Amino acid sequence: MIEPPILDVRGLSTDYTLRRGGKTVRIQAVKDVSFTLAKREVLGIVGESGCGKTSVGRSIVRLAKPHRGEVYFAGKDIFTAGSEDLRRLRLKIRMVFQDPFASLNPRRSIGDSIAETGDIHGLFDSKADRQRQIQQALTNVGLDSSFAAHFPHELSGGQRQRVGIARAILPAPDVVIADEPVSALDVSVQAQVLNLLADLQAAMGLAMIFISHDLGVVGQISDRVAVMYMGRIVETAPTQDIVDRPLHPYTRTLMAARPKPDPAFRIKAGIEIGEPPSQFEPALGCPYVKRCPLATSQCETADPSLRVIAPGRMAACHNI
Ligand SMILES: Nc1ncnc2c1ncn2[C@@H]1O[C@H](COP(=O)(O)OP(=O)(O)OP(=O)(O)O)[C@@H](O)[C@H]1O
Ligand code: SF4
Ligand SMILES: [Mg+2]
Repeated sequence: MIEPPILDVRGLSTDYTLRRGGKTVRIQAVKDVSFTLAKREVLGIVGESGCGKTSVGRSIVRLAKPHRGEVYFAGKDIFTAGSEDLRRLRLKIRMVFQDPFASLNPRRSIGDSIAETGDIHGLFDSKADRQRQIQQALTNVGLDSSFAAHFPHELSGGQRQRVGIARAILPAPDVVIADEPVSALDVSVQAQVLNLLADLQAAMGLAMIFISHDLGVVGQISDRVAVMYMGRIVETAPTQDIVDRPLHPYTRTLMAARPKPDPAFRIKAGIEIGEPPSQFEPALGCPYVKRCPLATSQCETADPSLRVIAPGRMAACHNI
């Protein structure tokens, strides 16, 4: 029997309203995004800055509003959950953020920060149990238990992100949404934190959404990849298929730029990614039409929907 997904996202859309040049404008940060996440699966979400990756993660846990669509966690509808259910759900779906320093209170000790969620939700039986769980969480992320008495400014970036991960895993979640968890770290530290996440995911049987603008990083940890462009998913496939045979023209560009995604390399390699179109003036046809080397006249007028291309593979393109 096929196990039901732990997370089932259907037609998720998120708009923001903002003031621009004296006018109120709306941007659709997430447009009709659907995917499932199996238990113990790692789904990578990749795409360039502003494509809506963070908005997807935050909308799932109802941190970004307004949103449309449906999100089911273990069969329970998150968007219609009452406040008590939502509190419980937020123990089961935990987030790790890009900037561990910003998410830690500078005046709280590391131990108190790690225990915060447990304190709020009454997860500790006693003071001794609290202490034990803090120490266990620190050990799980490869930090000495003496770190409990330290403060954020005393830690390196890598150590702070380990604390961010310890906070996320203390309530023994089922799903972790890691939003650019290594992007702010030195390259030498990135691999260590990636390995830690991979080890914890395997040891705890976690399902994970791993968000990054870097396909190289996403590929190292993910079972499956969803490529986002302008608020939509334009391709999903098992990681190895994306690496061996990217189908969508945008994924191919990301793949070609992958070894060194800095602009100097792209220019040297003759890869022109170009500027993304404005989200304030969405194009009528395919959102990628202005940058796409394969564009045809149909692409100017018809927005391609995500469709099954091969077993386990979907892409949104008229010309695949
Ligand atoms: N709170 C907000 N209010 C208004 N607009 C927002 C808000 N958050 C995000 N946006 C806009 O929504 C779009 C998607 O942003 P989002 O942060 O989800 O993208 P992202 O893919 O995570 O980008 P990055 O790689 O830079 O983190 C962008 O155009 C962004 O400017
Ligand atoms: S639909 Fe057309 S413009 Fe869009 S990605 Fe495919 S070929 Fe390019
Ligand atoms: Mg983001």
